[in-house]
Amino acid sequence: MSSSFPKGFFWGVGTSSYQIEGAWNEDGKGPSIWDTYAHTPGHIKNNDTGDVANDHYHRYREDVALMKDIGATAYRFSIAWPRIFPQGTGEPNTKGVDFYKRLTDELRASGIEPFATLYHWDLPQSLQDKYRGWQSKETAKAFADYAGYMAGQLGDRVKHFFTINEFRSFVEGGYQGFDVQVGGGKKVHLGGAPGSQLSNGELNQVRHHAVLGHGLAVQAIRARGRAGTKVGFAENMLTAVPVMETPEYVKAAERATRELNADFTTVMLEGRYTDNYLKKSGKDAPRFSDDELKTIASPLDFVGINVYKPNIYVMPSDEAAGYHSIPINTSHPKMQSAWHVFDPECIYWAPHHVQSLWGVKSIFITENGCGASDVVAEDGKVYDSDRIMFLRAYLSQLQRATADGVPVSGYFLWSAQDNFEWIDGYGNRFGLIYVDFKTQKRTQKLSAQWFREAAALNMVV
Ligand code: NOJ
Repeated sequence: MSSSFPKGFFWGVGTSSYQIEGAWNEDGKGPSIWDTYAHTPGHIKNNDTGDVANDHYHRYREDVALMKDIGATAYRFSIAWPRIFPQGTGEPNTKGVDFYKRLTDELRASGIEPFATLYHWDLPQSLQDKYRGWQSKETAKAFADYAGYMAGQLGDRVKHFFTINEFRSFVEGGYQGFDVQVGGGKKVHLGGAPGSQLSNGELNQVRHHAVLGHGLAVQAIRARGRAGTKVGFAENMLTAVPVMETPEYVKAAERATRELNADFTTVMLEGRYTDNYLKKSGKDAPRFSDDELKTIASPLDFVGINVYKPNIYVMPSDEAAGYHSIPINTSHPKMQSAWHVFDPECIYWAPHHVQSLWGVKSIFITENGCGASDVVAEDGKVYDSDRIMFLRAYLSQLQRATADGVPVSGYFLWSAQDNFEWIDGYGNRFGLIYVDFKTQKRTQKLSAQWFREAAALNMVV
């Protein structure tokens, strides 16, 4: 059996605007909720902010050259909405648009395919002030207008758009805060901008507005982008891993995955909330119309999934749900991030479930990678052997999925460079390239060499 990935497989790297650009108030950019959140002491580790970050706004040429050097054939970046519409709506800021034109020109000239994400959490602050952000449908509509506008502006350079990145993270982190189970009943609490504390009913409505914003944006991109423009979402779908690889266990894991994602992935791909979800939510269920459900499930060209960890382990059961979930064990191996439970099989099962549950024809792994305790050694090099172990293990499982016929079109490693890791600040490094945040010096880590080799041979090395 071949150990290669399919022909034409994209070997990409990813970043997002707030995490690398810096230039937070330059060239007419308006403030985002992450500017506000990070400027409030006590929210981010060491009170780090994204004000300068990787200074990518000014150093993008050097950064594209580095991507080319490490053999990336695709780059997933995000557009900062408040650079384009400083107030969220109204007159566009051409200087902001020009930055993304320069960036995508540079990528194309370097043979790197640009993949643009329209929302990676940096909502214009004015929409937060005016509408309480995604608590209002008005934000979903404003998002669609901005998405359609950008598809028009970049459509000659960018063929692939992702609407929204990680619905679950920004909705639950930003509007209530949430706990991740990491084994033995231990939980890690995660939060983020805007830092609201909503009730469960209000939170379900925010979820609904987020998927509605996605659907409206898909329609706006189709209406205003060029023919041939492709669009999908990028979600950190929760993945159930079967305890055994037998048909009954696999079925149980599929059922669990469908239910676990009822509020985001499932409704976007099926156009309905599952009975179980509505029943479980009771009086807290979102308010919605049939028309909205149709919009939410607007046809897509591909599905993007961010895959880092298994969510639960599953076995078949006679319970009504048709599966029984097993908790993560206390001693389960982890990577550096407190939430990062290690199990390479999740990246085999996640795309597998997407294909078998929803018949999706093209899947991208829009994020995968790990934080590690990287340091520059005396010889000036960065020896991130645990990241290489992680990548080899996960990509072997992804390759197994493609060999089984799961239609995975590409992989984006998170991240191209160390960057601002949200509430963890700069202390948790995810990059293939090490960044000294005092001097902005970039150094390729050992994993960058590994990536170059794997991408060149189109296989795990
Ligand atoms: C998911 C997010 O999309 C990204 O912004 C973040 O840095 C990585 N995961 C790592 O936590």
